[in-house]
Amino acid sequence: MATPCLRSRADRVIDAAIARAFAAPYNPWRQLGALTSLALAITVASGIVAYALYDTSISGAYQSGLRLQNDPSYFGVLLRGLHRYGADAFMLLMILHLLREFLRSHYRGPRWYSWLSGVPLIWLGWLAGLTGLWLLWDSRALHSVMATAEWLQALPLVDEGLVRNFLASGALNDRFFSLVMFLHIGVPLFLIGGLWAHLQRIHLPAVWPRRAAGVGLLLTLGVVSLLAPAQSLGMADPHFVPKAISLDWFFQLPHVLTDSLSGAGTWAVAGGLTLLCASLPWLDRGRRKPAPARVELIHCNGCSRCAADCPFGAIRMVPRTDGGMHAQQAAVDDELCVACGICVGACPSSTPFRRIEDLVSGIELPEQPIGRLRQTLREVLKSRAPGSMVLVCRCRHSPGGSQAPDPSMLSIEVECLGMLPPSFLDFALRQGLAGAVLAGCEGGNCEFRLGDRWTLDRIAGRRAPRLRRNVARERIISLARQDDEASIRNAVDELLRHPMHDQPGDAR
Ligand code: HEM
Ligand code: SF4
Ligand code: SF4
Repeated sequence: MATPCLRSRADRVIDAAIARAFAAPYNPWRQLGALTSLALAITVASGIVAYALYDTSISGAYQSGLRLQNDPSYFGVLLRGLHRYGADAFMLLMILHLLREFLRSHYRGPRWYSWLSGVPLIWLGWLAGLTGLWLLWDSRALHSVMATAEWLQALPLVDEGLVRNFLASGALNDRFFSLVMFLHIGVPLFLIGGLWAHLQRIHLPAVWPRRAAGVGLLLTLGVVSLLAPAQSLGMADPHFVPKAISLDWFFQLPHVLTDSLSGAGTWAVAGGLTLLCASLPWLDRGRRKPAPARVELIHCNGCSRCAADCPFGAIRMVPRTDGGMHAQQAAVDDELCVACGICVGACPSSTPFRRIEDLVSGIELPEQPIGRLRQTLREVLKSRAPGSMVLVCRCRHSPGGSQAPDPSMLSIEVECLGMLPPSFLDFALRQGLAGAVLAGCEGGNCEFRLGDRWTLDRIAGRRAPRLRRNVARERIISLARQDDEASIRNAVDELLRHPMHDQPGDAR
């Protein structure tokens, strides 16, 4: 088992703390990308309705905000709150999403694209929110416009008198407001386009959270909107500077930096962080990238199961190149392949029941050939009495303690549980093992996104390749929560205590 680094340990500690309050499928820490999309959708939807009720002139803007916040039916209060707090939630969730992906080192290897394409989304999200605050045209908005102008002034080609110009009467006019409105509507469109690009290398992306988590977010935003209504401050007045202005920290943090560091200092911090974030995939490459999956053409029948299961869209079906009887063959794009092995688990040629001496699958991980696994099973079982041993298959990325050698366990380690073809479980039981324990990442926490889902679906018969119907499912224990060896030990003992023929419903 790989020793987890400090960052991945931090991820596990946070995850475990949140898991105490939320059942596995609802754990918000595991669906931060999806929750960020939902927060964006709530903000955009409430913004569209608010736009219909909004006067975009400099004289009418402030009144529009007041009308919503004082709406006796509370519809306006709710609408304004959902838009404002939805935007705050979006920023917060996006930063947490970034943090989790960082802790899990999901910027290395082929994941560089998902990481890098996320970076501009931070700037776009921030700009969309900031221009939204300006549209309220209260003293917070004016302060923000001035602070942003001061920040922009620090750029080489920007006029040094930008702030002065804004303060001069006539500069803050309806044309300026139309520009702000244009930005506030246009930037989210880029954001949505950027999100589309961000998800291009993810197969079956979880764009929306589980229903319970989504309803939870919506309700939280609704309750906060009603309990702490979003309110405007006094109307913007260039001739009156209020003593203190409450800031929206999610969008106005750069202003605090500009106040304390100057515009140039803020550029240094913001630019430096952006650059650091964007270059992380090249600054920290981690361990050597394992060799990508390789198609063994002679064993590939073109069924396309591997392409359907690959979490990163690294496999395409292409016309046959060897003149064989099948129309198609799988082709792996090495640039996209993270070497998870899930395609090996999907391939019908991976079955250990094949009669060929050296088992080769239609698609293989060169560093973990599937034939080696069958060989290990055969050799170990030659010298063991039936029912005296349990197959323990561990995911290399799942949390777990150190394993002491144990004669009652045949331990194997795979890159991802999704790499283990279900027919291997059938094979292991037929060879005389008392059962199998699958110790992988908890629901929604799979290092390779879909490995746990496909494994459970294949065993339950919901997805090809299916575990044969008459295989005793009670002989297979899948550990949803396995942070320590104790749970594996208990599962193994349980299987050994009840030999195969004791099991109700056992087909053999
Ligand atoms: C508009 C803001 C964002 C939204 C709505 C968003 C949403 C998502 C979604 C839905 C996924 C797919 C999750 C899955 O199915 O496994 C994803 C993946 C990912 N996101 Fe974001 N994201 C955003 C910003 C960011 C940012 C700022 C970063 C980091 C700089 C980032 C880094 C990643 C990475 C690395 C993945 C791939 C994870 C993997 O390969 O397992 N995202 N994002
Ligand atoms: S090893 Fe994983 S990423 Fe690579 S082709 Fe197979 S399923 Fe896709
Ligand atoms: S799953 Fe196996 S047989 Fe089917 S297309 Fe992929 S490599 Fe070929």
